[in-house]
Amino acid sequence: MLVLGIESSCDETALGLVQDGRLVAESVASQADVHALFGGVVPELASREHYRILGPLFDAFMQTADFQPSDLSGVAVARGPGLLGSLLVGVSFAKALAFGAGIPLVGVDHLKAHLLAPGLEQELQLPALGLLVSGGHTHIYYIKDAGNFRLLGRTLDDAAGEAFDKVAKMLGLPYPGGKTLDELARAGQADGRINRNLFSYPYLDNKNLDFSFSGLKTSVALYLKNNPGIIEQARALASGAAQAAEQSRAAPELSELCASFNHCVSHTLCAKLKRAGEQLKADGRTVKSLIVAGGVAANSMLRSDLQALSEQMNLPLVLPRFSLCTDNGAMIAYAGYLTLAAGYAHHLTLEAIPRGRNIPEDQVRLNLFGRA
Ligand code: KG4
Ligand code: ZN
Repeated sequence: MLVLGIESSCDETALGLVQDGRLVAESVASQADVHALFGGVVPELASREHYRILGPLFDAFMQTADFQPSDLSGVAVARGPGLLGSLLVGVSFAKALAFGAGIPLVGVDHLKAHLLAPGLEQELQLPALGLLVSGGHTHIYYIKDAGNFRLLGRTLDDAAGEAFDKVAKMLGLPYPGGKTLDELARAGQADGRINRNLFSYPYLDNKNLDFSFSGLKTSVALYLKNNPGIIEQARALASGAAQAAEQSRAAPELSELCASFNHCVSHTLCAKLKRAGEQLKADGRTVKSLIVAGGVAANSMLRSDLQALSEQMNLPLVLPRFSLCTDNGAMIAYAGYLTLAAGYAHHLTLEAIPRGRNIPEDQVRLNLFGRA
């Protein structure tokens, strides 16, 4: 079964091709440079860029991956959550392709696709405890099976990636900030410049599984107000492309702030995951693995803290490789493949769902002729 995946929910236009659940080819065009000028994703520009790029990207992809639309068993598309205008570009393209080639269409939940993505490379051990940490979401799920996710906790305000990006922006670091902040934090930690008491853990002193990162962001803003020299250090770095280790030496207070902030976020994510595991155990639920995905799962401190947590919880840790952490077409193709293989697809009336609205369970059974 050959399935194409199309991703256009935010600032990445991406395609993936999966054959019987294994990745055959992928292609991604990032818009990061376009949005960097504005220090964040501009929704109107994002949809225009998807519209400009998707057609030529698909043509080139067919050539390099050597397939025709008629070879496809189905086309999967990220239908949400995301920026509505951007989603509509991918969804319209997928509908046209499905209609033209006479193949089934599958609308994929972008968040679930992130968490299922490691299944492209290894067999997932389900039920699992899942953490999705991206620029728009911080969700803890109980993943009973590929088609059955139960949301246990979520952020009440900023997502973890958003907190990284906003702090990076306050510092004047180049966009996208999460990765740059990670590099500085790593250098700071390697030099022993990490202060675990600089900021308090946000929204941890309670019994629930939700997150709130906006207070931490305010603490960083206040700290910077009292220590304006740190922003000067960040500005000096932004103008010279020094290596992380040199940066840490040149900007000790900056790398300390990054390492301490990063620790605070990572510790909080791990503590709530641990709590979720304990609650599931108390409810008599089986958990066989810990799956963490989304852009922030690329964060080095989080990856090593999660490793320690998985040993403590005695659960195997599943982390996608770096390119599968951020938005990609492979994860959409794979989630679409799972849906098709289970015998489901969507009608051509499939709706794109913006952030903030629940994704409906509106897939329908494929008939004997492979039609939805
Ligand atoms: O999953 P993703 O590519 O897009 C969304 O669906 O949001 O996640 C992007 C987010 C951004 O906020 C970005 O700053 C963050 O992931 N991110 C990181 C790192 N790499 C990407 N945050 C922390 N450390 C990183 N290494
Ligand atoms: Zn994403």
